[in-house]
Amino acid sequence: MNSHFVIAIDGPSGTGKSTTARLLAKNLGITYLDTGAMYRAIALVALDANISPENTDALKNVLQKTEISFDGENHILINGVSRETDIRSSRVSGSVSLYSAIPEVREALTEKQREFGSKASCVLDGRDIGTVVFPNAQFKFFLVTDLKVRAKRRMEELLLRGENVSLEEVMESLAERDEQDSNRKVAPLRKAEDAVEIDTTHLTIEQQVEKIRAAVSVGATLESPSHNQKK
Ligand code: DC
Repeated sequence: MNSHFVIAIDGPSGTGKSTTARLLAKNLGITYLDTGAMYRAIALVALDANISPENTDALKNVLQKTEISFDGENHILINGVSRETDIRSSRVSGSVSLYSAIPEVREALTEKQREFGSKASCVLDGRDIGTVVFPNAQFKFFLVTDLKVRAKRRMEELLLRGENVSLEEVMESLAERDEQDSNRKVAPLRKAEDAVEIDTTHLTIEQQVEKIRAAVSVGATLESPSHNQKK
């Protein structure tokens, strides 16, 4: 396998992409980038400043002035301040699709993601990693999960954070976000033709990680010179 490789994991909200990607990266000893967290960060800064998604000039200013980084736990820092809990709030979840549909926002964050991925082997998860950010990624996966199962998982996360929401509300919000992410003009959520689809409805996170790890190992073996010599 190339010494430098990219693993792209895309799919709708709540399919377990981020947890899977984080564990997979740890397991393989490579870096991980949560691209959804980057879109959430921009949405949070814009919401805090009362900037609407239509106000492109003000958004460009936000993009220029917002420094996004991650700590050792992969938790987001915005201009050096930890905002991990804030970016996961319902307030941000409810608006992030509107901000992430703006071409200027996508362009700026895509550039940062490509820069990150060009430095070292890594796992990136998002909506357009295999189609737009790294169309030549060596490994591409697309996760899908039944809506009700996704909503249950998300609801448990929100309850742990003290946000009391009903299953119906979460299902509605996820369905709305899927719709917005899939139908936007720029880089919509869709499976790359060469991505491997994995239905995670009945899988635990450990099983999801193992499935992807195994597929990556097989791919790596197929590309290795020793294997080719044996042919
Ligand atoms: O993965 P997530 O739920 O944290 O993503 C938050 C939002 O960001 C999601 O509604 C769509 C957007 N997003 C995107 O448009 N492109 C990506 N590569 C990652 C996320």
